[in-house]
Amino acid sequence: MKRNVIAMLNMKGGVGKTTLCKEIAYYLSANDKKVLLVDVDPQGNLTQSIFERFNFKHHYESETARNKDYKICTATISNVFEYTSIVESVKMEDFILKLNENLAIIPGDLNAVFFERSSGGSESENALKNFMEDFEIREKYDYIFLDCPPTFSFYTTAALLASDFYMSPIHPDSYSILGIDLLFQVVDRLKKVYRDRFKAFPLDHLGVIFSNIPRDGSTQQGMKDMIKDIQQSEVLKGLNVHFFNEPFRINPYIPKKIDYFIADSKSDFSYENLRKIVRELENNIIHLKTPVQQ
Ligand SMILES: Nc1ncnc2c1ncn2[C@@H]1O[C@H](COP(=O)(O)OP(=O)(O)OP(=O)(O)O)[C@@H](O)[C@H]1O
Ligand SMILES: [Mg+2]
Repeated sequence: MKRNVIAMLNMKGGVGKTTLCKEIAYYLSANDKKVLLVDVDPQGNLTQSIFERFNFKHHYESETARNKDYKICTATISNVFEYTSIVESVKMEDFILKLNENLAIIPGDLNAVFFERSSGGSESENALKNFMEDFEIREKYDYIFLDCPPTFSFYTTAALLASDFYMSPIHPDSYSILGIDLLFQVVDRLKKVYRDRFKAFPLDHLGVIFSNIPRDGSTQQGMKDMIKDIQQSEVLKGLNVHFFNEPFRINPYIPKKIDYFIADSKSDFSYENLRKIVRELENNIIHLKTPVQQ
């Protein structure tokens, strides 16, 4: 089986999980890779951004003030969570929305914030994983990116059960070391609880990536020192944490427009930043691929 499913994971909020997820996926799709995005976060930020960029909305969403002709999307991740491995009853357009030749999304359910799904039982926890297996989703795409919420919940478990790798953006600050330590503990615990699943298909750490970093040349000494302290910290030494060399740099357009994508503006310095991140990500995956292919 291909190993190409990557969860964007950090229990800390606002560190750039959704932004990196959508930018990396969009960049790869613009460079001839087939990519599937999965919005596992009930906040639905990834879905909002993609819907705005590609002019979609769910039938229950009202028209926004903007005078746009939205296409209706029937696919939602809620349908995946209710998926019960009855393969015959599946209409693929209720699960996956095709955006163009290379990019597709399993959108979040923008209604999901209204119903608490703290524990859906093991059937729904495994539903995303089972859905991906039953329909050989890994084989249909080069990469699959899962955007996770900042809390540890049913959603995170469901995402990690379906993943091969996880990648974690962090802001370099004095809480980062404890944050990474906690993240690894949470993943470790999950691996113990679901040991059969993870023995069969490993879940590997792809790397921690520093985000919210100013443009090259204007990074202050204090921040450089902070990054070094984190990378060399005693606490993290035993955990074998891999750090991306390239950080995710600040681009002032990103927070201003939800339909902004770096790969649409090729002249931008961010494009080069993103290109380096993607190159590292692809190299890390090759490096981590198990020699014995399943
Ligand atoms: N490279 C960047 N340059 C400028 N702003 C950024 C960058 N990356 C992220 N942001 C902004 O930082 C904020 C948080 O980013 P984002 O929503 O991606 O974080 P998150 O980790 O997904 O948050 P949450 O935990 O709530 O899901 C957003 O307003 C986003 O636009
Ligand atoms: Mg997010």
